[in-house]
Amino acid sequence: MAPISALAHSDPPHDRQIFDDIDAQFQLDDSKLFKITTQFLEDFRLGLNEYNHAMAMIPTFVTGVPNGSETGTFLALDLGGTNLRVCEVKLLGEHKFTLRQQKYRVSEALKTGEATALFDYLADSVDAFLTSSPLSPTNAPANPFSTSALDEIDPKQNDALPLGLTFSFPVEQTALNMGKILTWTKGFSAKNAVGNDVVKLLQDAFDRKHLHVRCVALVNDTVGALLSRAYTAGGCMLGGIFGTGTNGAYVEKVENIAKLGDHPARKNGGYMVINTEWGGFNNSRSTLPTTPYDNKLDRESINPHFQAYEKFISGMYLGEITRNILLSLIDAAPKSLLFSGHSSTQLNTQFGLDTAVMSEVEEAWQSGRIHTSHVKAVEGGNAIEYEGVPAAAGAQIVAGEPNTQDVYFLDVNSYGASDRARLEKIRQVIVNRFGIDAQNVSLRDASIVRWAASLVARRAARLSACSIAAVLIQTERAKLGGGVTPKEEHIVVGVDGSLIEHYPRFNTRLRASLRTLVGVEVEDRVDIGMAKDGSGVGAALCALQAIKQGL
Ligand code: GLC
Repeated sequence: MAPISALAHSDPPHDRQIFDDIDAQFQLDDSKLFKITTQFLEDFRLGLNEYNHAMAMIPTFVTGVPNGSETGTFLALDLGGTNLRVCEVKLLGEHKFTLRQQKYRVSEALKTGEATALFDYLADSVDAFLTSSPLSPTNAPANPFSTSALDEIDPKQNDALPLGLTFSFPVEQTALNMGKILTWTKGFSAKNAVGNDVVKLLQDAFDRKHLHVRCVALVNDTVGALLSRAYTAGGCMLGGIFGTGTNGAYVEKVENIAKLGDHPARKNGGYMVINTEWGGFNNSRSTLPTTPYDNKLDRESINPHFQAYEKFISGMYLGEITRNILLSLIDAAPKSLLFSGHSSTQLNTQFGLDTAVMSEVEEAWQSGRIHTSHVKAVEGGNAIEYEGVPAAAGAQIVAGEPNTQDVYFLDVNSYGASDRARLEKIRQVIVNRFGIDAQNVSLRDASIVRWAASLVARRAARLSACSIAAVLIQTERAKLGGGVTPKEEHIVVGVDGSLIEHYPRFNTRLRASLRTLVGVEVEDRVDIGMAKDGSGVGAALCALQAIKQGL
């Protein structure tokens, strides 16, 4: 929480100081972003050289990316967040696919109970999917990742339905179809899973239930995003997830993966996809800009001191950081600074404020704007962002920006009618979604909530740019600070996740920071596109490659 002393003011001039103090803690200047990116590169190197680093840099044994001509029908199972999905994926070639899916909820009891119960549930879900609508016969897979030979496929292996598993947790892979669970993340903690082979855990569950399904490949959702964007776009160098969790996978030169030692995969040379597990970047928080609100979240989480970067960025946590800020303002002494001191069950409950609600708050503010493009590069300075009102002392306003008002966000009485209407919309969101009584929510409160949400989300987007910049630098497409013109016309990045897909301006904010980090020449060429259904399509593509390898 904010230091008690910081909240012990009562008269209005000091209110502003309190808000500015909180605001300052969430600001990341450009030099900080440079420092974080440099640390990323250092940690990439460590993780590629040795095992057992928090940012695990996991070799995936995926040694090529598809070109969009691959065909075949596969079953895919996707576990990694709130829902579990079973899909039938038909790769049609010509960069096209169709996908049929069913979602199943994963209860808290399953997430935190015995692993066998969780894996039995996965098997039951596959069974239910197949029973409700049987899979079309598997086509003979063609052209696995740019080779056209099909001859090594053993028909005997194909009598069980091949399934690709997208398992979005850290797994130390030893082959396309083998890997030990390193740790759980994102609120999972099922017992007796860590240290075990996830493919075996799943296959054993299929066998217990006499299901005629064979798990042939294992893939992380980031790898899925990379492969599926490559499939639809014809190539891709990075797959990133900005959703419940955050992580990235990129194509690395095998010669740089020193920790593979004399593994045959290293001798073959070429390229391999690395699952960075960047959510575990800087767990010591020596470089990450932690605040009391982050510390409270971490302390109360089920994995304190782990997944530090993820806890600053991902959808599972942003609502919680914002909740912590709001609570500190409600509880401020001697005078409450929010909702006249009233709270609600939602606000009093851990994880009670969903990131989706923050998104609604920001959406309510943005949707009333006259213009939406308001990120401008300032000469001699940084790309800065205009949020409608200055976030804090020291924030710059771009001259000539539409809707600009030089009004501090607490001074709502000086707002124009259209901005007051926008705050009114936010007020409604607060009443409906925070569960605070309408009579206790003023327009000023609405403005404070908007400010808090955008502080947290903006920091997340700026931090997200660091990992992407680091991958661009690591793969020699960029230099820190700019000054490189990359060879490729388009640097293709596939992304997925609720934050990047739905959170207002997450992408714009991220790109502005990316430009600061790698220069406009590179940033202009970075083509960040949604890898829709990446987990399903990626699992199918991996299953195809596994079958091709005779696994
Ligand atoms: C967590 C998992 C990682 C996954 C990411 C996005 O960080 O550890 O494996 O890719 O969430 O779902």
